[in-house]
Amino acid sequence: MPKNTLSVIDNRTGKQYELPIESGTIRAIDLRQIKLGADDQGLETYDPGFLNTAACRSAISFIDGDKGILRYRGYPIEQLAERSTFLETAYLLLHGELPSAAELDSWVYNVTHHTIVHESIKKFIDGFHHDAHPMGMFVSTVAALSTFYPEAKHIQDETSRRNQIFRLIAKTPTLAAFAHRHSVGLPYAYPDNDLSYTGNFLNMMFKTTEVKYAPNKTLERALDVLLILHADHEQNCSTSAMRGVGSSHADPYSAMAAAAAALYGPLHGGANEEVLKTLREIGSKDRIPAYIDRVKRGEFRLFGFGHRIYKNYDPRAKIIKRIADEVFDVTGKNPLIDIAVELERIALQDDYFVSRKLYPNVDFYSGIIYEAMKFPIDMFPVLFAIGRTPGWLAQWQEMLLDKDQKIARPRQIYTGPDKRDYVPIENRG
Ligand code: CMC
Repeated sequence: MPKNTLSVIDNRTGKQYELPIESGTIRAIDLRQIKLGADDQGLETYDPGFLNTAACRSAISFIDGDKGILRYRGYPIEQLAERSTFLETAYLLLHGELPSAAELDSWVYNVTHHTIVHESIKKFIDGFHHDAHPMGMFVSTVAALSTFYPEAKHIQDETSRRNQIFRLIAKTPTLAAFAHRHSVGLPYAYPDNDLSYTGNFLNMMFKTTEVKYAPNKTLERALDVLLILHADHEQNCSTSAMRGVGSSHADPYSAMAAAAAALYGPLHGGANEEVLKTLREIGSKDRIPAYIDRVKRGEFRLFGFGHRIYKNYDPRAKIIKRIADEVFDVTGKNPLIDIAVELERIALQDDYFVSRKLYPNVDFYSGIIYEAMKFPIDMFPVLFAIGRTPGWLAQWQEMLLDKDQKIARPRQIYTGPDKRDYVPIENRG
């Protein structure tokens, strides 16, 4: 009977160690016993970017990057995109199970009745410069919410946690829409509780003089599906930021502001904005080969391509490509789609992309749909953040309830100077 252990021989000392293997991992702390002598603090692992280090156990989302599979709590993303709603999916992520009809009603009611923000938040947003990036405003206002709800500090209190979760899921669309209205100089549009979560977001974004805003049903559903697709994605950069900051027991608003800040970067949730800039810069199909050559020469990356985990087509990108046609039936075709499809075709025949297993990711097609729906491109990362909010919160809560978790505190390999004595300024060369 094979043993679930790893035998290690330290060739420096000739000593042999046996390390338990559990769930396909060894515990990094077990390496500490491998020492040269009493002064040695023991072996560590070096893993910049966490390429091969599991930092938690999680039951929330599952990815098989080689097969292009994504599941939330066991449910395939394709089924959720087809049959669920964003709020039902948010419930699933946070509670682990799909809600009953009564649980869903109560959940939707609670989220809907937390969408209003304190009037002072409006003054806060008013303080931003007219051309402030909406993601900068979003990150800052999420952080500012922590000052409005000081009880959010009580992270071990289940009722307090639940209230902050309602508030964050409910208020992120309001903050996002207010940031947009500030950018374009429109008066803020207040939430309308008669509308769905996504319908209300469209209302707060685009309502002008009409007494009651009526969202287009196709666009409302398409946006809801896009939010579902973004809702969680295991231990990505922003989720790690949420867990990392949350591990110091900061309140969830502060932790989520950090997560949103991590999302803002162009290698993560800011990529959708970059894709649109790329497609506009390319401008026509005949210019694609020259652009690809520049990517291959290493001048820049092809945004919307590649993923740390997916070494196959991102299942979310497949679903998004399908939604595009439904959206274009309402909005008219976004001409950038033809450039994107051709760019994908050329890239996927090129050995540079094939050998590195670089496929379109979630950000490649999402921006084209958002643009067709009249979202300005600097709102794209904010839309990603709204979608990811339940995932961040589910991961934060899971981390807090996990007895194995401690404050995040990686080790380092020190490469600085050895001890040396202070030199008075007059003696320095
Ligand atoms: N364009 C051109 N080359 C690329 C790209 C790209 N988009 N992505 C990776 N590569 C190359 C990279 O240069 C490297 O080549 P080599 O081995 O010759 O040095 C190889 O592929 C491996 O890249 P890596 O940087 O080691 O891979 P990673 O896992 O650290 O990075 C990534 C993952 C998503 C940051 C990266 O693929 C990338 O920068 N993509 C573009 C940005 C993007 O679309 N981000 C959105 C990701 S999906 C949404 C989300 O969850 O954030």
